[in-house]
Amino acid sequence: MRVLLAGATGAIGVPLLEALAASGHEVIAVIRDPAKRRLVTDRGAVAVLADVLDRDGLLRAVDGHPADVVMHQATALRDASRKLRPDDPTIALRDRGTAHLLDAARAVGARRFVTQSLITGYGYRDHGDRLLTEDDEFGVRVGTVADLVTDSSVATERQVFAAEGIEGVALRYGMFYGENAFSDMFAGLMRKRAPVLPRGRTGTTSFVHVDDAAAAAVAAMERGGAGEAYNIVDDEPMSWRDFLTTVARVHGTPRPVVTPRWLIRLAVPYLGCLLIDTTMRVSHAKATRDLGWTPVHRSVPEGLKAR
Ligand SMILES: NC(=O)c1ccc[n+]([C@@H]2O[C@H](COP(=O)([O-])OP(=O)(O)OC[C@H]3O[C@@H](n4cnc5c(N)ncnc54)[C@H](OP(=O)(O)O)[C@@H]3O)[C@@H](O)[C@H]2O)c1
Repeated sequence: MRVLLAGATGAIGVPLLEALAASGHEVIAVIRDPAKRRLVTDRGAVAVLADVLDRDGLLRAVDGHPADVVMHQATALRDASRKLRPDDPTIALRDRGTAHLLDAARAVGARRFVTQSLITGYGYRDHGDRLLTEDDEFGVRVGTVADLVTDSSVATERQVFAAEGIEGVALRYGMFYGENAFSDMFAGLMRKRAPVLPRGRTGTTSFVHVDDAAAAAVAAMERGGAGEAYNIVDDEPMSWRDFLTTVARVHGTPRPVVTPRWLIRLAVPYLGCLLIDTTMRVSHAKATRDLGWTPVHRSVPEGLKAR
């Protein structure tokens, strides 16, 4: 298949370029920084320059590049230390960005669209020990700043499922770890002895290695059902406390510096909602059954050891 990929230079984008090439697919990578052209062409893709938030520029850039599928993996969550606001680019990318990429899909003749969504759409709260599945309510608002991320996950899913003439598939990813993802980000913070670990009990969540996330995207593109969402997570949910201490041990950084919960909530309110308030254990049974996908790295310690 010919795939138009937005977000090709990101934590999931780079392994995804490699996974698509390995499966014999051709990629047209939408990049916005000319300095990153080699990053994608070295992995066999053709690069087109555009900002996904600039609809006209995007349509001009993809003109003359027919494709079968569009994949939306563009996010702007990298700077997790900042405060999340309604005008955050991550929100815009999932809302307006999805609309623009759907227009691009129509322009290039693509009939399938795979979008990045998040398991946190089940609600940033304590879901207890029960394994969440795709049958659970999605888009649950809890009255905190994190609802912005939930709303944006719903925004991208709704648009791709409702798009006329397009088979839309959504991937509800767990927390990414691996190269350039949360594990690297927190290792960098712990090296600087930045306070990262809320005092007391932290939330527990489902993670996924970026290489497994990339493999799931290829499987969903090839075999995903129209209008279907799939949870893409590993087998062993983990508390953020265990995640941070495991990352510190494997990356050889100082141990995570503990900080009062109120300070995290004040300084980085979104991270507070994620690290303190959210406990969710998520099942990937549907992806395994329908896409034939299982995580190679079944747990964070296993995936980090393999780096
Ligand atoms: N499930 C999760 O846990 C989850 C989900 C998303 C993000 N994150 C976290 O956020 C960090 C980044 O991961 P990621 O791969 O999602 O993001 P990333 O590595 O920052 O990559 C984002 C991608 O989107 C592109 N992009 C951003 N804005 C764009 C725009 N306006 N137009 C076109 N392309 C645009 C970026 O291009 P440039 O190279 O030009 O910036 C990049 O290719 C990691 O720490 C990750 O763990 C986690």
